[in-house]
Amino acid sequence: MIINKNNIFVLETKNAHYVLGVDKYGYNHHLHWGKKCNADDYYIQKIKDQNSNHSVLDEFKQEYTPFGQTMYRGCAIKAEFADGCRDICLNYNGYEIEENTLKLKFSDNVYPLKIVLNYSVCDENDIITRWTTVKNNSENSIYFEKLFSAEFNLPSKKPYTFKNTNGAWGGENIETNTTLESGTFVSESRKGTTGHNQSPYFIAYQNADEKIGDVYFATLAYSGNFKVKAERDLFNSTRIIIGISDFDFKFELKAGEKFDTPKVFCGFTQGFGDMSRQMNKFAIDYVLPKTFNNKPLPILYNSWEATEFDVNCKNQSALAEIAAQIGVELFVMDDGWFGKRNNDRAGLGDWFVNKEKFPNGLDELISKVNELGMDFGIWVEPEMVNRDSDLYRTHPDWAYHFDTRYSCELRNQLVLNMTRKEVQEYIFDCLNNLLSNHNIKYIKWDMNRPFSEVGAENLDCQQMLWYLHTKAVYDIVDKLKELHPDVAFESCASGGGRADYGALMHYDQVWTSDNTDGIDRMVIQKGYSLLRPIKTMRAWVTDIAGINKHCSLDFRFNIAMQGSLGIGGDLTKYSDEDIEICKKNVALYKEIRNLVQFGNLYRLMDIDEDEVLFNQYVNEDKTESVAFIAANGTRFYKKSIPMRFDGLDENKRYTLTLNDKTYNKSGAYLMNIGIDLEIRGADYNRIILIKEA
Ligand code: DGJ
Repeated sequence: MIINKNNIFVLETKNAHYVLGVDKYGYNHHLHWGKKCNADDYYIQKIKDQNSNHSVLDEFKQEYTPFGQTMYRGCAIKAEFADGCRDICLNYNGYEIEENTLKLKFSDNVYPLKIVLNYSVCDENDIITRWTTVKNNSENSIYFEKLFSAEFNLPSKKPYTFKNTNGAWGGENIETNTTLESGTFVSESRKGTTGHNQSPYFIAYQNADEKIGDVYFATLAYSGNFKVKAERDLFNSTRIIIGISDFDFKFELKAGEKFDTPKVFCGFTQGFGDMSRQMNKFAIDYVLPKTFNNKPLPILYNSWEATEFDVNCKNQSALAEIAAQIGVELFVMDDGWFGKRNNDRAGLGDWFVNKEKFPNGLDELISKVNELGMDFGIWVEPEMVNRDSDLYRTHPDWAYHFDTRYSCELRNQLVLNMTRKEVQEYIFDCLNNLLSNHNIKYIKWDMNRPFSEVGAENLDCQQMLWYLHTKAVYDIVDKLKELHPDVAFESCASGGGRADYGALMHYDQVWTSDNTDGIDRMVIQKGYSLLRPIKTMRAWVTDIAGINKHCSLDFRFNIAMQGSLGIGGDLTKYSDEDIEICKKNVALYKEIRNLVQFGNLYRLMDIDEDEVLFNQYVNEDKTESVAFIAANGTRFYKKSIPMRFDGLDENKRYTLTLNDKTYNKSGAYLMNIGIDLEIRGADYNRIILIKEA
């Protein structure tokens, strides 16, 4: 709901208020973000005094700060007009409220630049979507040096701690918590994609844990270079700007053009648990592409770790037969099926079936997989080219390059200039043919290196390539989805390098990490679950039976079943006993997957803090739940632990069986007293089903 009283706008969601206003001079003010107050009480405070070094304009909280006047804080927008002026002065042009969206309109008081601040309110999920629109009504181009999506102000003058990640390939989503006392805290990508290192969001908190404490969060829906910059200034105010990074950034808005920045989804909760649950629901209902958002994702098998580049009809069929016996629903052939792709030095760009590996074409394998009762999926890496490929030999200029520089390879490959129309058409045609000519139901879209030598001579304003590349990827995926609505897409970038809300607006799921070690995954998946929807988190059981510590097949299933389950081991080497373990777990996953993929997640114990991982998923009406417990060796006297559940109805009675003992207890008992569990030894794992009695 949006309440407006004399240019004070109260954006009201189920549990929070976000309040802003515009004063008589046209300055936009941030007034409140947090718990609900009486809507009549909000008012705009007079801007305070200044002295020669402290500008009044620099002190008050703004919703969106332009570069200019005496404002020295990090600004959200900076433009250069045709005459060289680089200062923006805004006039207020009124507002519009369309259903649940508020549009606050401004324009420069000299130049024909319009700026609209957009706020879309989703009451039931407690989420507000923000973005900024710029429109150039002049006859000349306007060049932006900064064009962030949104600015946020936090209420307390005390320092906030920012949760983000400091990850890497194989170690995505490793949480960091940085308290910002002074200066700035930045998380950013300058690699062309989101990357593994930091995440395009902020989670700012004081004295918070899973259940309590004020938590402010915002996540950017964009898969390219991003920046989240928090600043605590001389007045002890903390503010944050979030959006496309201003690194190597120049954005040309031609005469008459309009541009919407990427969206930002933000919210305020008590504790990190509610934050994750709110975003999980919001993402399923409003962000994920519509075809599969409400459908449970199938259990997939992926052949990468079993056969790597050495794929052929025979070995894939052999894997498919066992996968089908186990109960897998989607068989995915990974890298190696096209061009001269016998290793990572050749073939990228030649999206045509390798006739030596598949002399009868792909359909022989696809029919086999379909006859076994499974859908077929395939791997591609469309944005890339190897120097050793027909595509590169024919079009060496299709990769980003500077004529005078040697183009560096990473994983022996170059990045295609996705801003060129011919490149977009080539990729689209290849993928469209693939999907039109074969019964393919799933595409794993990979992206295995950051950009370099970022020259794109086809563009007047070359720095726009960073943005246009990401847009081209989204456009191709969207077009393919429109033509092939029954095909699901997975976003992969060397594991979880493109796992952001921009990707989630176009892809149905994400490859979380190439690290499939059950023990490492406990940490990686927790980081993923903070702000991203659980059903999009692909998790495979593979043959990595513990990089540092052993973990059994059951243990690996326990962990992988906490996302969208996949299997990725070499099944031809599995013993009969292993196959039985797979069958048992796959059958169990089919029973519980709705709870995991659509339920509310409660993170009850943390492997790092508690030596035990205890996660519970509860359905919306609190009649069913599943809990996962895993530990890789508890020390000292921590072995007997009361497992106190959460998210249940205090007044309902539930049954559960644990270590062959059945309990019938009230929700109140299970949540306040819990069940004592002896957790001993490494490789400990249990899955507990809880049902209303
Ligand atoms: C990187 C991905 O993360 C892997 O899962 C696999 O698809 C390889 N690329 C294939 O080259």
